[in-house]
Amino acid sequence: RRTFRWAWRLTYLSVLGVLGYTGYVIYLDRNPAEQLERDPNKKTLVVLGTGWGSVALLKKLDTENYNVVVVSPRNYFLFTPLLPSCTTGTIEHRSIMEPVRAILRHKRGAVQFYEAEASSIDHERKVVKITDNSEIKGAVVENEIPYDMLVVGVGAENATFGIPGVRENSCFLKEIGDAQRIRKKIMDCVETAAFKDQKDAEINRLMHMVVVGGGPTGVEFAGELQDFFEEDIKKLVPEISPRFKVTLIEALPNVLPSFSKQLIDYTENTLREEKIDIKTKTMVKKVTSETVEAEVVKPDGTKERVVIPYGLLVWATGNAVRPIVKDLMSRIPAQKDSRRGLAVNEYLVVQGTRDIWAIGDCAVAGYAPTAQVAAQEGNFLGSLFNNMAKTESHENRIHELSSQMNLQAGGTPPAEAAQEIEALERRLKKIRDIKPFRYTHQGSMAYIGSEKAVADVSWWNGNFASGGSMTYLFWRSAYLSMCFSTRNRVLVVLDWLKSKAFGRDISRE
Ligand code: FAD
Ligand code: NAI
Repeated sequence: RRTFRWAWRLTYLSVLGVLGYTGYVIYLDRNPAEQLERDPNKKTLVVLGTGWGSVALLKKLDTENYNVVVVSPRNYFLFTPLLPSCTTGTIEHRSIMEPVRAILRHKRGAVQFYEAEASSIDHERKVVKITDNSEIKGAVVENEIPYDMLVVGVGAENATFGIPGVRENSCFLKEIGDAQRIRKKIMDCVETAAFKDQKDAEINRLMHMVVVGGGPTGVEFAGELQDFFEEDIKKLVPEISPRFKVTLIEALPNVLPSFSKQLIDYTENTLREEKIDIKTKTMVKKVTSETVEAEVVKPDGTKERVVIPYGLLVWATGNAVRPIVKDLMSRIPAQKDSRRGLAVNEYLVVQGTRDIWAIGDCAVAGYAPTAQVAAQEGNFLGSLFNNMAKTESHENRIHELSSQMNLQAGGTPPAEAAQEIEALERRLKKIRDIKPFRYTHQGSMAYIGSEKAVADVSWWNGNFASGGSMTYLFWRSAYLSMCFSTRNRVLVVLDWLKSKAFGRDISRE
């Protein structure tokens, strides 16, 4: 009984501790400290984008050292790993968005934010042209921002490889708007299929959900979609449910090519058990408003053209370079051989320039285009810029003290000045010894449906591969801990509980 009483007290105290801490974090969040005003006399650092790379940089940066200006058409940070869950309403979209102004308000030095698209970069004049492409326009829609230092973190756009009909007929899955569009379309297909006296062939087409691209985006979305069907649509619209089908099309011989062989096999078996039709060695060549046309490589090596009718088509075939990045690459001779983005050196400086850095999906540094890489690059640049600012301030102080000593002009007594100079030089030596960027891979994870996930985790000096329900719990806790803010974490947990308890909301907005 005594042990029980102690266990109870301990639990009570832990709960109280967690609640107290959460309350304290929320209080700090709602009551940020006064900010130092921007100093236009300091170097102007312009940051393009509010994605993984740029936000990691801004988080790390001591903003009081620069005149920081952020430009992005998106005034929020998006936690992309949970985006596939928004397509079915497992998570509501606002739970994985964090307003960038809230992030910037917590910095010590004030930061200027412009919701705009950078439309071109003139690296010779050192100016960025910005355009307001939002729905509501004022008298000024275009402007220029001069910079001393520029960070390009604009990410990538969706690859279509110029395949006809893709842009016009399919949904992508990169932005919050894409997830909302997919969510609406799923239910539109279902309700149209259930229309009075709907034609048989039409029901089959409308209930056929096709996903092109068997990378992590395609696999995670297919898994989420099948869950939505099994757990909700089937119960609420039983009359058409036998016709519901998800097909995953991949050009290569297997899905999730970047994962280990063991996990690829596990994923493909699990997807088949979930009744997802996997069509590998199938390359989509053309898309119309109701069909995809693909070339299938048969086991004997011959090729066959097939036409697949669909109701919803989600296109997830990876990344392509954004126009602004292409334009900058074309202006810099040293970038002429680069195809996949801005080639950078080991300090992430864009090759052929001195004051432009690139991070994340728009940079080519020899790593995969993932959030993990982008965040580590942003973090590295934040430290680099902090060090550069410290170096400048120490050098200025040394210069000031040396001049005083030379002129014997009052101020700090010579002995003290000499001591201070020595200490500053020691510090400078340490600061200047900055190691180049090195990426540390922590592993890859993907949700594969029916409360299972796969993970290739880097463990000490080796790799640890696992798949199943325990990995799913690990996947959930890992991504929950990585959410940007306490607010995001609380909202995501509530969404998970809500969709488990009441089912996903199938209303079509
Ligand atoms: P983004 O995060 O894409 O940010 C780019 C920013 O630039 C945005 O704010 C955008 O609005 C802005 N921008 C665009 N054009 C302009 C312009 N002209 N001017 C100014 N700003 C501009 N990676 C993982 O490691 N783990 C995962 O689990 C994972 N899951 C994913 C799930 C999905 C559905 C998707 C699509 C991707 C996922 N990724 C994941 C990949 C990861 O999201 C990207 O690698 C990461 O977002 C790249 O970060 P970034 O900062 O380069 O670009
Ligand atoms: P991807 O580049 O990883 O995969 C795209 C797939 O589409 C490839 O396997 C390719 O063979 C296939 N493909 C291309 N053209 C095709 C065609 N015409 N027909 C059929 N198949 C075709 O792209 P994805 O999944 O969008 O991921 C982009 C990046 O984001 C990757 O670096 C990925 O690692 C990362 N990411 C990571 C996630 C995670 O870790 N859980 C989740 C989502 C994305």
